[in-house]
Amino acid sequence: MSAVHKAVITIDQGTTSTRAIVFDSVFAPVFTAQEEYPQHYPRPGWVEHDPEDIWQTTVSTLKQAMAYCRENAIEIAGIGLVNQRETTLVWDRETGKTLYPAIVWQDRRTAHQCHKLKHKEEWLHQRTGLRCDPYFSATKICWILDNVPHARERAEAGELAFGTIDSFLIWRLTGGKQHLTDTTNASRTNLFNINDMNWDNDLLALFDVPASLLPEVKNCADDFGKLDTTEFGESIPICGVAGDQQAALIGQGCYKMGEAKTTFGTGCFALVNSGSEPAFSEQNLLTTVAYTLNGKTCYAMEGSIFVAGAAIQWLRDSLGILPCAADSEKLARQVEEDHQVVVVPAFTGLGAPYWEPLARGAIFGLTRGSTAAHVVRATLESVSYQTQDLLNAMRCDGIDTTTMNVDGGMVQNSWFCQFLANTLDITVNRPKVMETTALGAAYLAGLHAGLKDNIEDFAALNPQDSTFEPEVDDILKKKRQHRWQAAVKATLIMAE
Ligand code: G3P
Repeated sequence: MSAVHKAVITIDQGTTSTRAIVFDSVFAPVFTAQEEYPQHYPRPGWVEHDPEDIWQTTVSTLKQAMAYCRENAIEIAGIGLVNQRETTLVWDRETGKTLYPAIVWQDRRTAHQCHKLKHKEEWLHQRTGLRCDPYFSATKICWILDNVPHARERAEAGELAFGTIDSFLIWRLTGGKQHLTDTTNASRTNLFNINDMNWDNDLLALFDVPASLLPEVKNCADDFGKLDTTEFGESIPICGVAGDQQAALIGQGCYKMGEAKTTFGTGCFALVNSGSEPAFSEQNLLTTVAYTLNGKTCYAMEGSIFVAGAAIQWLRDSLGILPCAADSEKLARQVEEDHQVVVVPAFTGLGAPYWEPLARGAIFGLTRGSTAAHVVRATLESVSYQTQDLLNAMRCDGIDTTTMNVDGGMVQNSWFCQFLANTLDITVNRPKVMETTALGAAYLAGLHAGLKDNIEDFAALNPQDSTFEPEVDDILKKKRQHRWQAAVKATLIMAE
């Protein structure tokens, strides 16, 4: 009789697409279903998703992954869930209907409200590890309560529920039985105290958010309920949940203090494991929950850049100068090393370490000889320069990384990885499984399902596949740095 193969399915609900990936018993990806869905920009600086697009793409990709397991006689041990963080939804507890589209993490509509709370920034930072910025969920919830008719009174009457994407999907996947989140997602709301690991009444008062809206907060490997059999036919446990960037840290095997990763997805997020106590940056970086297992929390320091892969999408879809993302490598290689074009892709403001929600994108250094290839290359370069800004900030905070583990869609471009190594002047490692966000949630689900005993048991499962050593031309590096800093400065002046 053949042995039963066990697998874990991860739902990866990202900013531009939803995927369901089957990981086999050695956590290798064996099947992927992916569906993109539309982005909505109703006003300048606003970014929304249709919650039904998020739900339908989740149902459809998950069903494809479940069918693959059925056809191959694979037993599904559990489901992991990773998600775009901070994106905010409010729904009716009775009907499950959302009150308003999902307000996406990139959305800047609450910049004014955040500006008014600036005087509380240090106090907020010490409690939440975050900043007073529209990026996080709290002001987005408040906006929905204040702008959807009767929402606030209904929230106060306990009729409504708030959730980041994880909570919303858990609610729907379990047929409305569970209103839960995990510590990593809770730590991105600006309502969660990362010192005592609880929702914080003072923060709820500051942002005017009723406590009745909030989900229960669980460990990352935990019992998050079971799939609703009416919709899915099978009652499989959801047992691993994390925000996508924290999941990538887990998928990269960064379980020791000082180990770091940078994910180049829609945005770019550099996280360094900072151990069992929260460490607070003096350089405008965030402190966040990396993961909580069996009640023990590991923290991370984070640098967040809002636009990375999204800029490549912009070149392809809005400017139409890039037939497909993969062509960016060929075009970048055509451009002379000392070209002068600089792109600042501040389409939704600037994140760390500048935190200027009103900044907007710009292109500098154009000449009559500039081509599409220059703009493409400068856009790729801008992601490297922003990453360098983050690493410089980390260095000033006393964190000296000598290698950087990278992942996400953009690192398929080897030219980009080499340019990154040259810019950062450190070794850049690319792992075998580049889908580390999904892998991290698979580890969490696998842990709860008993496929491994400890998180450390996963450390060797995703080895490095390619290494990029810095090839530094000091003079050129200085010139590039100077141009980048000048371009950012000009962009910030324009925002004033
Ligand atoms: O904080 C936002 C982040 O979670 C979005 O991730 O993968 O869509 O760039 P991604």
